[in-house]
Amino acid sequence: MTQLAAAEAYRLWAPEYDATPNPLLALEERLLRDELRRAVRGLVLDVGCGTGRWGRLLEGCRYFGVDRCAEMLRGNSGAGFSLRRASARQSGSGTEIPSRLKPAPLESSSDLEACSGMGQDAGVGHALGCHPSEARTSRRVKRGGRHECLPHFAPSHFVAGNALALPVRDGAAALTISSFVLAYIDSPEAALAEWARVTRRGGMIVVSDMHPDAGWSRTFRSGDEVHEIEHHRHAAGAVLEAAARVGLRLEREITAGFGEEERPVFRAAGREDLLERARGTPALWAAFWIRP
Ligand SMILES: C[S@@+](CC[C@H](N)C(=O)[O-])C[C@H]1O[C@@H](n2cnc3c(N)ncnc32)[C@H](O)[C@@H]1O
Repeated sequence: MTQLAAAEAYRLWAPEYDATPNPLLALEERLLRDELRRAVRGLVLDVGCGTGRWGRLLEGCRYFGVDRCAEMLRGNSGAGFSLRRASARQSGSGTEIPSRLKPAPLESSSDLEACSGMGQDAGVGHALGCHPSEARTSRRVKRGGRHECLPHFAPSHFVAGNALALPVRDGAAALTISSFVLAYIDSPEAALAEWARVTRRGGMIVVSDMHPDAGWSRTFRSGDEVHEIEHHRHAAGAVLEAAARVGLRLEREITAGFGEEERPVFRAAGREDLLERARGTPALWAAFWIRP
């Protein structure tokens, strides 16, 4: 088993990421999906969005995903994907966009406003790094008498960027979610401060990750090799303290273990034995905060 830095690991794992049976993701979806669907009241910002899993789960929401790994982002739409490099507030570290993923030329913003409804939040589209000419690729549907987009499949709604310096204006998001990312960031406080900045007053920040006491390694297979991903182990208490220091109000904390519901996913991974071993131990940690 080789150890890989997270940036390199996700570049390698990206082509297989969505096809890898992952009980932790299944557990998180079971616990959070319905609640998040009910909670969404505006733009959802997915920090470290990977292939846009939460965009698919929150179908119908206005969704914007940021990730530093171009290979993971490319997984969200397959062929024809184009990516706008965000310039605002982006450190650039770890963001490598293959040269064939070139931004299209800028056009008027009217398409974006008409299509994605972002005109309602004046300037959000540009501040987020959305590209008006790409917004037309969004799927238009009629809801409650007016047209809306299902933006999660639109290339313009994904952008390369660093979770610690998001290409997003202050207060843009109604819900900021970061799922299985915090362990790749060394300072939870810096991350939560940045996620608070981009979340509007009264908006929600939801963070989930493998429980720090789960005792599982973070591994994936690429070809014949198994790789372990380097990460930080942040105690839940330390994350909660960091959130309090940046002024977030804790709504709810979740510690959960696997159940029978995840058995098919363990089976698909060929590791049903692990379900038995994991019983009674925490597997997932999540917290919901309000930005006052
Ligand atoms: C386990 S994947 C989770 C992807 C997605 N959130 C999900 O739950 O399916 C972790 C993701 O975090 C991204 N990531 C890690 N550190 C990051 C950072 N500092 N800025 C942006 N993305 C980051 C990785 O590139 C990877 O796509």
